[in-house]
Amino acid sequence: MQNKDKLGFGVIGCGRIAPKHTESILAIPQAKLIAVCDIIPERAQDFARKYQAEPYLDYHELLQRKDIDIVTIATPSGSHAEIGIAAAKAGKHVLVEKPMSMTLKEADLLIKTCRECGVKLGVIHQNRFNKAIKLLRAALEAGRFGKLTHGQATIRWNRNQEYYDQAPWRGTKLQDGGVLMNQSIHNIDLLQWMLGPVESVYGYTNTALRKIEMEDVAGAVLKFKNGAIGLIEAAATIYPKNLEETLNIFGETGSVIVGGIAVNRIEVWEFPDSEEEKQRIFASQENDPPTVYGYGHREIIEDMIKAVQNDGVPAVPGEEGRKALEIILAIYKCQETGQPVKLPLVEDIAN
Ligand SMILES: NC(=O)c1ccc[n+]([C@@H]2O[C@H](COP(=O)([O-])OP(=O)(O)OC[C@H]3O[C@@H](n4cnc5c(N)ncnc54)[C@H](O)[C@@H]3O)[C@@H](O)[C@H]2O)c1
Repeated sequence: MQNKDKLGFGVIGCGRIAPKHTESILAIPQAKLIAVCDIIPERAQDFARKYQAEPYLDYHELLQRKDIDIVTIATPSGSHAEIGIAAAKAGKHVLVEKPMSMTLKEADLLIKTCRECGVKLGVIHQNRFNKAIKLLRAALEAGRFGKLTHGQATIRWNRNQEYYDQAPWRGTKLQDGGVLMNQSIHNIDLLQWMLGPVESVYGYTNTALRKIEMEDVAGAVLKFKNGAIGLIEAAATIYPKNLEETLNIFGETGSVIVGGIAVNRIEVWEFPDSEEEKQRIFASQENDPPTVYGYGHREIIEDMIKAVQNDGVPAVPGEEGRKALEIILAIYKCQETGQPVKLPLVEDIAN
C-alpha cells in the first residue's frame, strides 16, 4: 500500500503512443513524471526536455530510482514481458501496453513475477473507459440483454506500407504480430469482456496487401461458453483510410452497436422502453477522438494509481489482459493447423 500524495512514474519507450502516457501523467494530480527511457538517445532526450523528466537510455538504470513507484511500458510488444519482469523485481508496479506479451508463457511469467514481488500489473486496454463502452457494460451487468445471442468485433482501419516500414519490429511474428495482435486486440478484449469465457475458436488470417510477416486481414468465429457466437473482422487494409472500430452485442431483449472511429459512439441502443434513454444518450455523445488511440489513457492510469493507493485490483489486471492474447494466439494456431482450437490454449505457437 502506498500512502504518498503523488506516485512517481517512469515511462519506458518514447515512440508513437508514449505521449498519451506522459501527457496523461502530467495531467493527473496524484501522479508525478520522474523519468523517461528510450534506447534511441534523441528520443529519450527530446521526451525528457518536452515533459520535464530525467532521460535514460537503459531501463535497468531507470528502475533503480527509488522515487519511481509505477512504470508504464510502451516499447515494441515483444519486449513487454522482459521489461515488466525486471520492473516487478525492482519493486515497481507495472502498467504495460497491449499486448502484454507475445506468448502465453511470457504472460504467465509476468503475472507470476508481479504477484510474487507484491506489485500491481495492469494492461492498457483504454477503450474499456470509453463512455459508450461503460454504458454498454452497465446495461450488460444489469442483465438488460437477457440471454446473450451473439456479438461482433469489427476493425476496418488502414495501416499503409510506410506505417509498417517506419520501425523494423512492425508486422513481425516475434515483436508485433499482425492486425489481430496489434490493432484488433482492443476490440477482441471488449468482445470477450462482454460475452464471457471462450470455448473454441476458428479463424483465417491473410497477408493480403502489405509486405509484412504477419496478417493484415483476418476473420474468426468464437464460441462462448454461454452458447453465444462471436465474430471478428480485422483489417488494416481498408482503402483509403480508417473507417470504423465497431462492437455489436445482441441478446434476447437488447441490441447495442458501438461504432465510430474507435468504439466511441453508440449507433444502436435498443432495450424495452428505452426510447427516452436512447434520445438522451444520442444527444450527449462524444465526437470521434482525434486519433484512434481515443481518450482512455488518462483514466486507465488514474485507475492504476487507485489500485496502488488502495491495494485494489487494476481495471484490466494481467489475468484479464491475457484473455484477448489467448484468443488471438488460438486464431494463429487455427490458421496453421486448419482445425478449430479449444481453449484453454495449451500449446503456445509463438514458442
Ligand atoms: N493502447 C493503444 O492504443 C496503443 C496504440 C499504439 C501502440 N500501442 C502499443 O505500444 C507499444 C509501442 O508502440 P508505438 O507505436 O509507440 O511504437 P514505436 O516504435 O513508435 O515506439 C517504441 C519505442 O520504444 C523504444 N524502445 C525499444 N526497445 C526499448 C528498450 N529496450 N528500452 C527502452 N526503449 C525501447 C524504441 O526506440 C521506440 O522509440 C506497442 O506494444 C504497441 O502495441 C498501444
